[in-house]
Amino acid sequence: MTIDDVTLARALHVLAVMHWIGGVGFVTLVILPLAASRSSANDGLTLFEAVEHRFAAQIRLSIPLAGATGLWMTWRLDLWDRFADPAYWWMAAMAGLWLAFMLMIFVLEPALHDRFARQARIDPATAFRRMGCLHALALVIATLTALGAVVGTHGVIF
Ligand code: HEM
Repeated sequence: MTIDDVTLARALHVLAVMHWIGGVGFVTLVILPLAASRSSANDGLTLFEAVEHRFAAQIRLSIPLAGATGLWMTWRLDLWDRFADPAYWWMAAMAGLWLAFMLMIFVLEPALHDRFARQARIDPATAFRRMGCLHALALVIATLTALGAVVGTHGVIF
């Protein structure tokens, strides 16, 4: 079997995106509701933080891999013009979503983690509501982006 570099990059890109966005879906739709429904708010926060901590360590690999393979394909296929073309909105959406998550996991989360944990222990209901909204928004945007990318990559012009 021979495989060219662009096909390999595409396969790794899709795998990295599956791990990352699939995990965001699992945290949003399973872990957060489970943590919020715990009878003790402290138990809920401990559960959420333990899961988020492990997941954050993993997406510190899958998000850079998704970006590196995406940029590799863009460079090798010379697709830079697409970022300025509204018909390829999903290209800009992919890059924007990636940038937002990179900022979140490498800059904002480490800087604000302790402050957030303190506030969450004072008012867990508000903290869970805010986390739920933020995660749900990220999941909706990521789902629409992935949908646009698959359909657009396979020839649909918007
Ligand atoms: C810096 C960030 C990113 C860049 C530069 C990038 C770039 C690319 C490129 C060049 C392609 C192939 C397009 C083609 O062959 O016509 C692609 C495909 C794809 N990308 Fe991204 N991407 C990035 C992030 C993301 C993100 C955040 C997601 C998920 C929400 C995503 C999901 C996909 C999907 C699902 C495909 C289609 C694969 C297929 O069906 O062949 N990408 N991306």
